Amino acid sequence: MTTVFPLGFPPATTFYLVLMMGTLVLHMVFMHYVLAGTAYLACGRFMGPKRCAVCGWQAILIDWLPFATGLAITAGVAPLLFVQILYQRAFYSSNLLLSHRWIAILPVLIVCFYLLYLQKSAWITRRAWFWRIPVAAAAFAGFAFIAYSWTENHLLSLDEEVWPELYAAGSLHYTTAGLLPRLGVWFFAAFVTLAVELAWQGRLLGMELVQPPPGSTTVMGLSAVRRLALTASSGGLGVIGCGVAYASTLPADTRGLLGGPFAGPWLWVAVLGLGLQLACWGWVAVRDRLPLPLLLVMTAGWLLSLIAGVVVREALRVISVDMPTLAAAHEEAATIGGLPAFLLFAAANAVAIGWCIRTAAKAT
Ligand code: HEM
Repeated sequence: MTTVFPLGFPPATTFYLVLMMGTLVLHMVFMHYVLAGTAYLACGRFMGPKRCAVCGWQAILIDWLPFATGLAITAGVAPLLFVQILYQRAFYSSNLLLSHRWIAILPVLIVCFYLLYLQKSAWITRRAWFWRIPVAAAAFAGFAFIAYSWTENHLLSLDEEVWPELYAAGSLHYTTAGLLPRLGVWFFAAFVTLAVELAWQGRLLGMELVQPPPGSTTVMGLSAVRRLALTASSGGLGVIGCGVAYASTLPADTRGLLGGPFAGPWLWVAVLGLGLQLACWGWVAVRDRLPLPLLLVMTAGWLLSLIAGVVVREALRVISVDMPTLAAAHEEAATIGGLPAFLLFAAANAVAIGWCIRTAAKAT
């Protein structure tokens, strides 16, 4: 482990690692919006109709969450394929052990999807305000359960020693000291992402963020940009707290890698990216404005921390898996083609998507 991850592996292994991490970053971009967005709404709905009516962020979330969920699911498919090529036995074993508890994420996902549509339906707007609270809370609870299940599955896939015991007990649950802090890292990171994404959405949808007009509406005394600053900085501090707690649950030799040449540089990039964002949000909180250059800098910090965070995640996994034994399977997978079929379906999908966009644009 003297070269920086993912170098130092056979070319086919490195190729799949890069594809896995690249596509997982894309999944995180949308999944974070959904996870933190539903949490934001579930809390926001408690503030009552008057305050919610002036909160532009909640209006954007209500409108965009169903679409973002579709993107999060679609973007999850590619890493799901690569994770199977890369880790095979470890990934399948945890799937099988958790059995229908694991597969429960699918019906839950479907129900949550419908709840998000219900949340923006005319039907609910005709009901008493109260009904928006349980709908928003149930959608968030569902997505939180899905996130919990992914973390549980990931950690179980790496804990081979516990497999026989779990199988013998017929238990469909796995718990370990690292589970909650690890889940906490993803949960809080989602708020950091959400703040940057909402800032861009607000800008593109014409919200005045650069120089909010005097007397513009506030919610609980906070302007729109200050609410984003609060969202991002509490998320960032949560990531730091949970990250430290999670690291303390790792075996000493795994933790040691975080300081060495293998994963250390990536950890530093993640920390610097997060630090840059926190500094930018601090400026926003003090000045109560969010100019474009600052948004560009915080977006760069966000991308750096997200990409580096995903790379550190993978670096910690590969050292727990017997990668040399899997190298032959990776090499074999790399020889299997199918480019013409891929191009055919990519073109067919592009036409179908183009047609949908055109039809929707015409209708609106
Ligand atoms: C929208 C609801 C979803 C949420 C909230 C969610 C959340 C998460 C979280 C928190 C992780 C990281 C787990 C960890 O490292 O501890 C993760 C990883 C992952 N998710 Fe999602 N996810 C969602 C939907 C999906 C769907 C529908 C798919 C597949 C189509 C998917 C594919 C993946 C894959 C492949 C990974 C990496 C697994 C691994 O490396 O072992 N996700 N997801």
